[in-house]
Amino acid sequence: MIYKRSSALFAEAEKVIPGGVNSPVRAFKGVGGTPIFVKEAKGAYLFDEDDNRLIDYINSWGPMILGHAFKPVVDAVVEKAQKGTSFGMPTEIETKIAELAVSMVPNIDKIRFVNSGTEACMSAVRLARGFTGKDKIIKFAGCYHGHSDSFLIQAGSGASTFGTPNSPGVTQGTAKDTLLANYNDIENVKAIIEANKNEIACIIIEPVAGNMGCIPPKEGFLQALRSVCDQNNILLIFDEVMTGFRLAKGGAQELFNIKADIVCFGKVIGGGLPVGAFAASHEIMDYLAPVGPVYQAGTLSGNPLAMAAGLAMLTELNSNGSIFDSINEKTEYLHRGITKVLNDNKVVHTINRVGSMISVHFDEAEVYDFNTAAKGNNETFKKFFHGLLSEGVYIAPSAFETWFITEALTYEDLDFTINAINKVAKTL
Ligand SMILES: Cc1ncc(COP(=O)(O)O)c(C=O)c1O
Repeated sequence: MIYKRSSALFAEAEKVIPGGVNSPVRAFKGVGGTPIFVKEAKGAYLFDEDDNRLIDYINSWGPMILGHAFKPVVDAVVEKAQKGTSFGMPTEIETKIAELAVSMVPNIDKIRFVNSGTEACMSAVRLARGFTGKDKIIKFAGCYHGHSDSFLIQAGSGASTFGTPNSPGVTQGTAKDTLLANYNDIENVKAIIEANKNEIACIIIEPVAGNMGCIPPKEGFLQALRSVCDQNNILLIFDEVMTGFRLAKGGAQELFNIKADIVCFGKVIGGGLPVGAFAASHEIMDYLAPVGPVYQAGTLSGNPLAMAAGLAMLTELNSNGSIFDSINEKTEYLHRGITKVLNDNKVVHTINRVGSMISVHFDEAEVYDFNTAAKGNNETFKKFFHGLLSEGVYIAPSAFETWFITEALTYEDLDFTINAINKVAKTL
């Protein structure tokens, strides 16, 4: 495939945008080469500026669960745009999408809309701190909750459970309030709670991790987290930015039958427009301004175009209950196909999958936390990525990302992909 125009556009972009991109992973630093510039997309396909067609396994990092340019979403946005694009005043559609979201997701009474997953998680943590009157939070190494300061933290040195900043600009003062735990390790969580008695406001977790490849929670892990939170007056926050409205109508809470205290959303809930949201019981949500003391706001929050897109998307997912089964079956088919061709070609690998989230790790050991995910062979991943790209299959340009399957994929697309993987596997 030729990427002449993409390369030229990237060179232009680099002159005026840091690294040529508005979000770092797009820059292909993890795999080398220059990023591909998209011209348009339809259904399961991306069409780039060089007129290559790529089968898309990222889908805007999750939102396009029903495919690109999904007609009900596009129609809803176009219709709304003609009536004005932002008012900074209440609109009826905000209540409509809030009612629908609350009816689909277990255990939430009220929801507040924001503009991104980052904002949702940042606000949820502030609310948890305000509500409990405690400062510290526990997050898991390898989980991503957006780029707010409290989350850009890595494990501290030695025996310390305090985190340290993993980006310049994040202060030590912020880092000291974020404690890092190992995913799937409940004893580690208990030890951290013990060492910080009565100081922890919340535990925030991706109930299925998607930012170190796909990592399922071990049997009983989420239940155990729920119990330790109850025993210690700690709020449990599920970051369902990836899993919400994807793993089931009611997300991971429904799939695993666990109640979180606060749930964060992003991606699918906006149908491809910039939307995030966080939700909880009346009691917790009424702690937010203007009713309660915890401040949170946004000029464009509840924007009519974004709400129209989200409402059209959720309406479709709510009215067609078989979508989740269908997309899971497609992902399972892909899983079986990839396993077969990688085994046939003797490529050492582990595949993790939950519903329509899947990732291929190039290591044979079980992948259950950040350390085991980091053991994957990145050189093999790079070859795999570029090999697939030249076959017209676009997966995330980083070994630490999940593939997001879209319902728009046909079984022919899946067979095409499995054949492409078979070809590429011979070169690994
Ligand atoms: C689980 C999770 N939480 C939060 C975020 C942040 O969302 P956004 O990029 O919309 O700010 C992401 C983004 O990928 C995510 O995967």
